[in-house]
Amino acid sequence: MKILLLNGPNLQLLGTREPEIYGSTTLDEIVRETVELGKTLGCEVTAYQSNIEGELVSLIGSARQNGFDGIIINAAAYTHTSVALRDAISAVALPAVEIHLSNTASRDEFRHKSFIAPVCTGVIAGFGKDSYLLALRALASRKARSK
Ligand code: DQA
Repeated sequence: MKILLLNGPNLQLLGTREPEIYGSTTLDEIVRETVELGKTLGCEVTAYQSNIEGELVSLIGSARQNGFDGIIINAAAYTHTSVALRDAISAVALPAVEIHLSNTASRDEFRHKSFIAPVCTGVIAGFGKDSYLLALRALASRKARSK
């Protein structure tokens, strides 16, 4: 199973960015741990980070033709603003999990709205880097159940 792991704006700063909210683990460390878990679950995880909305839209749009079976996405601030990301996820019609390190529901009001949640299979938020690992486990067991 091939999984596309997408990280949106400012997540390249993880490790030093507001560690009291996002923890002190870097994005590279999170990606490495997710890739390693993938190996034990039979999933090949390919990760990208972009600060550019259109790049994320293009990566989602080409996910099916690039052989991906599912998407894990921390769209960061674009979660709360992007109709384009929502349309891309809807159009590609692959199982997708929206993730967040922080519990967005317990933070600023503008973080309560997600444009992408309605077109995702599910949402995992508030577990720090474990949100990534939980999302991968969810996609892997969903796939196993559908066999
Ligand atoms: C975030 C939550 C978003 O509201 C915020 O804009 C981020 C990170 C998270 O992982 O907790 O950049 O997606």
